Amino acid sequence: MIAREVIDDIVARNDVESVISSYVTLKRAGSNLQGLCPFHSERTPSFTVFPGTQSFYCFGCNAGGSVITFIEKAENLDYVGAVEFLAARAGVSIPQDGKQAQPGEIPRRRIYDMNLAAAKFFRECLFDPAIGGEGMKYLSQDRGLSSATIKHFGLGFAPNSFGMLHDHMRRLGYSDEELIKGFLCGKSQKTGRAYDYFRNRVMFPIIDTSGNIVAFGGRVMDDSKPKYLNSSDTPGFKKSRHLFALNFARNHAAETMILCEGYMDVIALHAAGFENAVATLGTAITSEQARIFAKYTKKVIISYDSDEAGQRAANKAMQLLGEVGLEVRVLRVPDAKDPDEYIRRHGADKFRRVLEGSRSGFQYKLDGILTKYDLSQPEDKIRASNECCVLISGYHTGVEREVYIGQVAKQLGLPTEVIKNQVENILRKRIREKKAEEQRQAQATIRSVGDRINPDAIKDVQAASAEETILGLMLIYPEYRSAAADGSALVVPDDFFTAFGRRVFEEIIRIHTSSDGYSAPVLEQSFTPDEVGRLQRMEQRRRSLAENGPSVFRTAIETLKDAAERRADRDNEDIVSGIASILARKGKKE
Ligand code: GTP
Ligand code: MN
Repeated sequence: MIAREVIDDIVARNDVESVISSYVTLKRAGSNLQGLCPFHSERTPSFTVFPGTQSFYCFGCNAGGSVITFIEKAENLDYVGAVEFLAARAGVSIPQDGKQAQPGEIPRRRIYDMNLAAAKFFRECLFDPAIGGEGMKYLSQDRGLSSATIKHFGLGFAPNSFGMLHDHMRRLGYSDEELIKGFLCGKSQKTGRAYDYFRNRVMFPIIDTSGNIVAFGGRVMDDSKPKYLNSSDTPGFKKSRHLFALNFARNHAAETMILCEGYMDVIALHAAGFENAVATLGTAITSEQARIFAKYTKKVIISYDSDEAGQRAANKAMQLLGEVGLEVRVLRVPDAKDPDEYIRRHGADKFRRVLEGSRSGFQYKLDGILTKYDLSQPEDKIRASNECCVLISGYHTGVEREVYIGQVAKQLGLPTEVIKNQVENILRKRIREKKAEEQRQAQATIRSVGDRINPDAIKDVQAASAEETILGLMLIYPEYRSAAADGSALVVPDDFFTAFGRRVFEEIIRIHTSSDGYSAPVLEQSFTPDEVGRLQRMEQRRRSLAENGPSVFRTAIETLKDAAERRADRDNEDIVSGIASILARKGKKE
């Protein structure tokens, strides 16, 4: 458990709006803010941030809670981890007696410091001809990078040695354990000793938007494999949450960003003046990264390698970026394998022209379909038109569909009406299928899963709903907490019928009567993020109702007690009828 004053301090230093807005694009809606929920996939915002209560709630997926619960979910951390994360964000440290130390965990700040020291070491090696001569030759001659570009990106060289970095870092006071956990060293299976992980490679530091070095990529200087070594994910670093060169690109991103596949593409583009280029860290783009783009820019030009793998990846990226509302364009660099090679061959001006000629996502896909078929053949034309209609029906606004219908009709030489009818047929069929699927799922959920968070609820729906009313009111209003705690409300834990409801009631009372008094973020410490979401749902339901006065509270308590009596009566009846049937059986035997 974390000490109360630590939680209060962390919550006070991390305003819910400012924390969440670095994950979600929020728009003001009255006194609250809304955005697309980061915890489920949606197109219209049901995710809401309430600055007044310093909480959030998604009306779509019922995620909710304080800023701590948000970070637990967003960063996949436990309560303690989320508090530490927020402490680091606010630049404060948690007193060690304020929490139970997680065994073997290295503070993020320590890892960043360690990475910075390593990056300096790699850079010194690169600029030392006796050690890094080959690396420098590779970067400047083979890859054509200027010394300014090399310095700008903080590039370096990992010497061809199993221990040079290790020894250097040990002299600076970093332990083997820290070096291994931070992915700068590997651990020998045989001897258990730490050895340098990156050897004989040119080094690319990965820098986050706060200027921390969060990881490294290291490239060989020939054709040996693996071409790149990248730091693995750790609790403090997830590849899917970073973009290479975003620390620079964010300042040039207002209108457009360029998404590339490789570090070298990004570096070549920046050097040629396209400082809005970024790349993922050797993995396919994720929806989290798509949301990062949405935070900085309006339009993304995908500029992947021209091979088949690159083009397939472009399709996926197009979809994810489109889903977060970005305008997406796709570039195909002619006669070069990637943007880096194109620029070196043809120069920046020509590349700018290619950029300007980038096709819309739709045109790109349409061309893909049309080139597959021989449109002079009737059968081919029919197949092409079918595929085009499926493509168009995937667009969500009527305007988009209308525009594309016109375009396809023209390119195929068919009447607009024909295309339009076919698109509408496909849409109607989809809606039917979707409805049926939703019904199936809803029923399956009720039948098999029931209520995961409060499994008892299904056994007495009326009582469970009364419990939610009582708890919802107690979560919002101090006077109901007091009335329950001092006994004047005549409600006790035994009145609660569901185990979950009872636990919530007891925790609220416990915290309310503690010397520091009630606090929502403190209450959350006793529950999982899903359970916290349920508490938020109770609160939101109450808030949405006009009448929350004492009579509502009283009535709900009475309903709960009545329900208990009803169940008791029923149990008695069961027992009575049980006895009766036993007696009846006995009677028969005799
Ligand atoms: P060059 O071939 O030097 O132009 O490098 P590049 O940066 O253009 O890389 P490429 O297009 O081949 O690959 C794209 C990205 O995938 C790289 O920047 C790396 O992040 C990653 N990657 C490539 N090869 C490997 C590999 O062997 N292992 C891992 N882990 N990642 C790789
Ligand atoms: Mn490349």
